[in-house]
Amino acid sequence: MSQTTYPTPTSNSVSDFLTKIEKRQARVAIIGLGYVGLPLALLYTEQKIKVTGFDIDQRKVTTLTQGGSYIVRILPSEIQEARAKGFEATSDYGRITEMDAIIICVPTPLNEYHEPDLSYITDTAKAIAPHLRAGQLVVLESTTYPGTTEEIMVPILEKGNKNGLKAARKGSSDGQQFFVAFSPEREDPGNTTVARRDIPKVVGGLDPQAAEMAAAMYGTIFNRVVRVSSPAAAEMTKLLENIYRCVNIALVNELKMLSLRMNLDIWEVIEAASTKPFGFQPFYPGPGLGGHCIPVDPFYLSWKAKEWDFRTRFIELAGEININMPYHMIEYVGKALNQHKKALNGSKILVRGGAYKKDIDDLRESPALTIIELLQEQGAVVSYNDPFFPTVGKGRKYDLQMKCAPLENLKQYDCALIVTNHSDYDYQRIVRESQLVVDTRNATKGIDSPKIVRC
Ligand SMILES: NC(=O)c1ccc[n+]([C@@H]2O[C@H](COP(=O)([O-])OP(=O)(O)OC[C@H]3O[C@@H](n4cnc5c(N)ncnc54)[C@H](O)[C@@H]3O)[C@@H](O)[C@H]2O)c1
Repeated sequence: MSQTTYPTPTSNSVSDFLTKIEKRQARVAIIGLGYVGLPLALLYTEQKIKVTGFDIDQRKVTTLTQGGSYIVRILPSEIQEARAKGFEATSDYGRITEMDAIIICVPTPLNEYHEPDLSYITDTAKAIAPHLRAGQLVVLESTTYPGTTEEIMVPILEKGNKNGLKAARKGSSDGQQFFVAFSPEREDPGNTTVARRDIPKVVGGLDPQAAEMAAAMYGTIFNRVVRVSSPAAAEMTKLLENIYRCVNIALVNELKMLSLRMNLDIWEVIEAASTKPFGFQPFYPGPGLGGHCIPVDPFYLSWKAKEWDFRTRFIELAGEININMPYHMIEYVGKALNQHKKALNGSKILVRGGAYKKDIDDLRESPALTIIELLQEQGAVVSYNDPFFPTVGKGRKYDLQMKCAPLENLKQYDCALIVTNHSDYDYQRIVRESQLVVDTRNATKGIDSPKIVRC
């Protein structure tokens, strides 16, 4: 940590904060420059608000400082433009004092026992606490269970700051306070149909002033801010949204398995049901859940629910179905090979797509990783191709050490297994040149060939 001393801004009133936001003079810190934090930093910068990004990953700080990017959908030119408008990246927490608002976007994974791992949030809170000053707004954006902001983060901030500051709570006001809110991130990576600005931003303040400050700050980059009564209500809102997705995906995965048995095409059925103008929202089956959110977040709530002697049965059932999907995929590949009088053991299989969903460069919790491992366990000789990943090395739960296979001589593979339906793939060619195609995403829709097995 640097020993440099920094000027301490003197203003600590709510009205000063609001004026600074209005005049675009507020300084915003974004902690955690990943898939959530970096795009958020660019949104503020576009609105002429000066952002300082903080990250403990020195490589990310260096890349950004040199005008580069490490997220495929963010171009280096966008970083350079932002830098010209004052965006900077650092790992020096001493600079927190200079900021008016601090937004925390650090990871919230599960540990090996499927329990919430809040260590990134607690580490961040401990790191910023000594540098907090009165009047600052601290907003947590990381997805987490209801109560985290108030029960976990606030006590660390209060205990660790040098000036004995307390978080402003309903009814308390003495000028020696900082302000706290929770506001969930709702980004849908790869979705280009809704502009980020048009996704309403939910905000829950620990007290009404914090809510007002957070609403003003987010109002500069979002068209609509939705206020809820507390940080816990905002935390729960995010979980409801993700659990809703998780449960509905599990439902459709289960119905897909039944449909396969009944010789029905679930994709055709979903398309037909989607024509209903009310009361039905389509969800699609797949090879299993992936990403940082849907496979992880529901378990934050089921863990917390135990404290209240409550079993979240929908979450557990959905988890059970979704976690089993990669295993079903292996079964379908085995059956498809069987029709060709081949065994999984010894067959050459090309897994098409590694990312957890199409057109994104995110491998986290991807079902492709589990599928590759399961195929290997069965003795298959597995290669993969994904334009976003030249190599797949070691992650928290896998160690594959594979190189992206070129799309040549597709006939050499006994089976092409489509796990991720990237738009750039030429599905006509895949079907034409492969011996057998197992399609877990309906990517070959409209192509009629006996080589295709949809599952
Ligand atoms: N990725 C998404 O699409 C998405 C969508 C909605 C919500 N979320 C939630 O947002 C949060 C962040 O997710 P993400 O996908 O951006 O994660 P990420 O892993 O891409 O980025 C997190 C960043 O935080 C940094 N970091 C970790 N500890 C730190 C610390 N103590 N100080 C400073 N930096 C630190 C990491 O180095 C990393 O760069 C999670 O809670 C996630 O559930 C993510």
